[in-house]
Amino acid sequence: MDISRINFISNSNISKKTVLLRVDLNLPFEKDKVTDNLRIDRILETINLLQERKCKVIIISHLGRPLGKIDKNFSLLRTLKPLSDKLRNQNIKFSNDCIGQEAINTVKELNFGEICLFENLRFYKEEEMNDITFAKKLSKLGDIYVNEAFSCCHRKHSSIVSIPKFLPSFAGVGLQKEITKISEVLETPKRPLMVIIGGSKISTKINTLLNIVKKADTIAIGGAMANTFLAAQNFEIGNSLSEKNMIKNALEIIDLAKKNECELILPSDVTTANKLAHGSESKEFDIGEVPQDKMIFDIGEKSISYLISKIKLSKSLLWNGPLGAFEFEPFDFSTMKISREVAALTSQNKLLSVAGGGDTVAALTKAKIESEFSYLSTAGGAFLEWLEGKELPGIMALK
Ligand code: 3PG
Repeated sequence: MDISRINFISNSNISKKTVLLRVDLNLPFEKDKVTDNLRIDRILETINLLQERKCKVIIISHLGRPLGKIDKNFSLLRTLKPLSDKLRNQNIKFSNDCIGQEAINTVKELNFGEICLFENLRFYKEEEMNDITFAKKLSKLGDIYVNEAFSCCHRKHSSIVSIPKFLPSFAGVGLQKEITKISEVLETPKRPLMVIIGGSKISTKINTLLNIVKKADTIAIGGAMANTFLAAQNFEIGNSLSEKNMIKNALEIIDLAKKNECELILPSDVTTANKLAHGSESKEFDIGEVPQDKMIFDIGEKSISYLISKIKLSKSLLWNGPLGAFEFEPFDFSTMKISREVAALTSQNKLLSVAGGGDTVAALTKAKIESEFSYLSTAGGAFLEWLEGKELPGIMALK
């Protein structure tokens, strides 16, 4: 996707404005505790910049899918303290509504350089319906709009695509970094470009594969989706998870890879067990020798060595989806080992590495190397749609 003609807040000289800042505070909670703060960390630079420029900052976001109804479980009040903690305990004012008199009053009482947070946009069904009147009401509260929510840019929602129709609009610092890095690795990569695609289902990644097979020099397939590719080539996969209805698609990808001179790497050996559980007794088999009563949960040692040798020959790497059932040891082995290798090569400036997607972030966090990749995108759907070659409405709206 083309990212030229986007206005970046970092290049602008705006100051003393009231800014509607769309972020993604759709954070993971365990009871009342946020379990991963990465999405907050990613918006701090923009907030700091706006405060340095003496702007009033109105933070708008959604949390969860409350389906257009007020639901306390999805209140953004839950994110107020973690956000304030990350902003050196600053006092952040909160409005229980994102439009209407309370929102207007909250903004009126705000001094330049101060921040307020509005209640969940999705408490209004109009947000997801991309209602233009709702967008107009929101935009009346600010002078300019800044989008700092790449993970929402695949959504045609009011706060993503319609506010920019009414206000001068910019990409935030985090969004700028994110789209620049993804664009660099996918659109103008230093070659060879290797792409690792894992996860459980081909059906959710088929469009990604169809697009990247035309761009990558090498694609490595792992996770349960590799089983479908193996089954398509008539290899025994025992009781492993696979998608029989996607066999034709797997064969199409194999064929397209040949036509595009893209090396498609499938596992040559696998780690199996009788059931998926922590500490299950595991056994490795070469492809073609997997017993009928076994299930494949990870790629094997030979496959890992081959992938590492290919990564060492690459200059750019894009990764989406774990290579095995990483939540359960020992089936996290390949994902941990290969991600640490990628991190090391990145630190030595030998590789540009970009990874993204919910499971991928979780896996790299488990390996404790999430900050050692060139870029780690917290976006799920938006990241995948970009890989599929789609234009993201939220990015288009900023042009
Ligand atoms: C995400 O967590 O990927 C974004 O916040 C988008 O959420 P949604 O899938 O509910 O639109």
